[in-house]
Amino acid sequence: MKKLIIEGGNPLNGDIEISGAKNAAVAILPSAIMATKGTCVIDNIPQISDIECIKKIIESLGAKVVSDNNLVTIDSTCINSYDANIEEVQKMRASYYLIGALLGRFKKARVEMPGGCAIGVRPIDQHIKGFEALGAKVTIEHGAVIAEADKLVGTNIYFDVVSVGATINVMLAAVFAEGKTILENCAKEPHIVDVANFLNSMGANIKGAGTDVIRINGVNELKGCNYSVIPDQIEAGTYMMAAAACGGKVNINNVIPKHLESISAKLIEMGVDITENGDSITIESSRKLKGVNVKTLPYPGFPTDLQQPMTTLLSTAKGRSIVNESIWESRFKHVDELKKMGAKVKVESNLAVIEGVECLTGAKIVATDLRAGAAMVIAGLIAKGTTEVTNLEHIDRGYPNIENKLNSLGAKITRIEK
Ligand code: EPZ
Repeated sequence: MKKLIIEGGNPLNGDIEISGAKNAAVAILPSAIMATKGTCVIDNIPQISDIECIKKIIESLGAKVVSDNNLVTIDSTCINSYDANIEEVQKMRASYYLIGALLGRFKKARVEMPGGCAIGVRPIDQHIKGFEALGAKVTIEHGAVIAEADKLVGTNIYFDVVSVGATINVMLAAVFAEGKTILENCAKEPHIVDVANFLNSMGANIKGAGTDVIRINGVNELKGCNYSVIPDQIEAGTYMMAAAACGGKVNINNVIPKHLESISAKLIEMGVDITENGDSITIESSRKLKGVNVKTLPYPGFPTDLQQPMTTLLSTAKGRSIVNESIWESRFKHVDELKKMGAKVKVESNLAVIEGVECLTGAKIVATDLRAGAAMVIAGLIAKGTTEVTNLEHIDRGYPNIENKLNSLGAKITRIEK
């Protein structure tokens, strides 16, 4: 069985490079299929399994995809199918961006229902509401979403909930809608701005991404472009927490510090020293940290995707911490694993009450989803003795070279491949 064996108790020191943002890249690659002329040359694409899935899906539609390390070139001029039905579609969440991209380009899309982490009910009603408002007929048949329109026409759409996926997906379809579309109550995550910038580089006319109102003037065609994906806010936040938990001094390079403000603020409140230097952030921790309360919120609030690593960090902080998960209803599955290591955590509905313990002890634990996996790795790094983490396929969906990056800082992690 694939596993990570972690010898805990080593401080982290040195420099670490952050990769391109997963949640931007998994939206940008599907968006590239909307270019009917030229090729898209996209840099800083992270090397993770979710990206391999997306590349296979767009190839199955007829696109030509060439990869060279972090550089991906996509020629979509020859796309000849609007039906995304290979098994990779159901392995990940972001495959749903093909609905907006195909509907925009062909006025027709058939996409198998997406998969992704089991962190709660993951409805797509707001995506469908947006497509319908633009004039599409949307049905769900035989496990696939089918969207069709004679033409798409711009309109005003108010999202009932702040949704990253719905904001991006409806923005994609609206790029090719006639006239003006105004999206209100939009999500403001950095990856939404990145996708809008990418689309604008291809010739779209999108204004306001990063605020809660996005205005899109429809265009008739998009062409290829050169683009570089932003650094991954969540990968950076994960390593900030690992450094804070293990103690030592770590420079986290290739970041946009502004995107990390909610995380820095909480770590400073816990007693971590943080300094910013341009596109680098330095974390210095003595490990003598105090508990804090955290509530997950849409950007610029504290990200839900860092709630699980944060719970691990708080498990050995002094005193009581309360973590309020306000986005996903089942995102505390990692707590049972932390308890095997001696953590004192009580979960009630969307709250976790953590009583900090002196130390965790190594155990055999499971990565129950992607970010839970990162939380387990941090737990292994701070625990006394040896920890074995299994279900690595979750971690590999979103963290490039996690063990190599951490080992370069002084961690002792070995990957067993079978
Ligand atoms: C994106 O998921 C991310 N995934 C998630 O990261 C992240 O946790 C989430 O945004 C919130 O930041 C990708 O970008 C691929 P949402 P998404 O639509 O778009 C409700 C990770 O670890 N909702 O913003 O699926 C929903 O139930 C992953 O990298 C509706 O009610 O999330 C949730 O409570 C895990 N109706 C809230 O909105 C809808 O139509 C936010 O969901 C859509 C969403």
